[in-house]
Amino acid sequence: MQRDPAKDVMEKAYARWAPIYDVLCGPVFLNGRRAAAKAAQNVGGRILEIGVGTGLSFDDYDASTEITGIDISEPMIARARERLAGGRYPYVKDLRVMDASRLDYSDASFDCVVGQFVITLVDNPEQVLSECARVLRPGGQIILVNHLYSERGIAAALERLLAQKARGLGLRPEFPFHRLQDWAQAHGGAELIERRKVKPFGFYTLVRFRRAEARSVAA
Ligand SMILES: C[S@@+](CC[C@H](N)C(=O)[O-])C[C@H]1O[C@@H](n2cnc3c(N)ncnc32)[C@H](O)[C@@H]1O
Repeated sequence: MQRDPAKDVMEKAYARWAPIYDVLCGPVFLNGRRAAAKAAQNVGGRILEIGVGTGLSFDDYDASTEITGIDISEPMIARARERLAGGRYPYVKDLRVMDASRLDYSDASFDCVVGQFVITLVDNPEQVLSECARVLRPGGQIILVNHLYSERGIAAALERLLAQKARGLGLRPEFPFHRLQDWAQAHGGAELIERRKVKPFGFYTLVRFRRAEARSVAA
C-alpha cells in the first residue's frame, strides 16, 4: 500500500488542473457525479460537498436542497464561484476554501456529506471520514463515489504501475474499499448501508454510510 498523498502536492496539482478541469474531467466523472448527487438528493436538506472542485455537480441538485461546498484548492473554488454568477444556482449557499480533515462546522450541521472523487486524494482519509460523520446529524448520510482499487488481475497490476506517476498529477488509482469499511468499524458511529458499482460501465463505486442515531453513538 502506498502512502496517502501529501496535502501540498494536491494543492499544487489542482492549481494546475483548475483552468482545464471542466473540459478534461467533466465528462470522465459525469456518471459517478450524477449517481452521488442523486443519492444525496434522496436524503435532501443541507448538503456539504467536500472537494467540490469547480462545482460541476451544481447542475445535479435542485432547490429542494441547500448546498455548501468546500475545497482545499483556492483556484478550484474560484472557478466554482464563477459558476454562480447570474444567480444560476440559488440553492448553492456557500463555497469556502477548507481542508476536509478540519471542517470548520459545528457538530450535526448537515443532513448529508458528499465526496465525489476526493476521499482517495486526501492525506488522511480516516480523519476526513470522521470529520464528515461529526458534522452530520444523527441519521444523516455520507455518500462517496470513486474509482476504488481492483484487488486482482490486469487492472490491479496496471493501477500499481500508474500509482507512482499519478500522485504528482493529483490522481490516485490505487485505494482499497476495505479502508472505508475498516474506518466505519473503528469509528462505531457510522454504518455502511450501500456499496455498488455505478452503471453503465461499473468503473466507479458508490458507497453510503449512515450516521448512527444519537442514542446508539458511543459517548
Ligand atoms: C478529482 S477532483 C474532484 C472535484 C469534484 N468533486 C468533481 O467531482 O468534479 C478532487 C478535488 O478534491 C480537492 N481536495 C484534495 N484534497 C482535499 C482536502 N484535504 N480537502 C478538501 N478538498 C481537497 C482537490 O482540490 C480537488 O478539487
